[in-house]
Amino acid sequence: MSRIAYVNGRYVPRRDAMVHIEDRGFQFADGVYEVCEVRAGALVDSRRHLARLERSLSELRMTPPMGLPALLMVLRETVRRNRVRDGIVYFQVTRGVARRDFSFPTPAPEPTLVVTARSLDFTRNERTAAAGISVITVPDIRWQRVDIKSVSLLPNVLAKQEARDRGAYEAWMVDAQGFVTEGSSSNAWIITADDKVVTRPADQGILRGITRTVLMEVIAAHGLTLEERPFSTAEATAAREAFVTSASQIVMPVVRIDDKPVGTGKPGALTLALRRDFHRHAESWTK
Ligand code: PDD
Repeated sequence: MSRIAYVNGRYVPRRDAMVHIEDRGFQFADGVYEVCEVRAGALVDSRRHLARLERSLSELRMTPPMGLPALLMVLRETVRRNRVRDGIVYFQVTRGVARRDFSFPTPAPEPTLVVTARSLDFTRNERTAAAGISVITVPDIRWQRVDIKSVSLLPNVLAKQEARDRGAYEAWMVDAQGFVTEGSSSNAWIITADDKVVTRPADQGILRGITRTVLMEVIAAHGLTLEERPFSTAEATAAREAFVTSASQIVMPVVRIDDKPVGTGKPGALTLALRRDFHRHAESWTK
């Protein structure tokens, strides 16, 4: 079956899916994106992902490519045409095509919209979660507006590659004060010896993850205490449990940080319980 992408109003085979060389996404990374989980053919937390997309667009003074209900239909149709049951849908909006010039083009061009969907092997993801992942730490060298989900991801790319080069799965970025901000493509969490679940506040230093937001409900439902405060690498290594969250990983246990074991060196019991219960709290509508 040939895979299909949505590009600016058309569903096209992926090999024919293209954007213009003067697209501002290509020239300046002048665009935003979202990644939404697909489970049993339905989009998970699409309402929240669309709301965050709208916010990212507005922070960058970009025009939405269409109304959110229409966009939701395109997302669902792309999932359907690619026969994705379990996987992700990726959608990206750029400021559009214009002669290369740093300032915003006038008149504003039509924004570019690209949507793709692909299956993910959830069994493999479960196996990874059962073993737990290793993370390394790297300095956070990103700009100050990482709360915007922009496609400008070069520091994240370099951080993830360093993780790969050092045999780890994810890189945690550390600010100038020695506090962990977040992963290269995930939010970072620890659980203390007295069962407090700690994650950095969603100020401008991190992306406010949708998985993070929903997980806070799961944490409350488990009667656990949530502490939104910065934590250092040393505190993380000494923690009882650690994990990361993202739309594609859900809740993924961290068992090593910079080659030092976290807790017993095995996925933590609370982490696995939060992972197991996540989808009971996430919003999911079938088509
Ligand atoms: N990444 N922080 C960063 C830097 C991210 O890139 C992501 C998501 C998150 C978690 O956000 P959410 O829970 O909404 O997925 C946090 C996506 C999955 C990606 O870029 O592929």
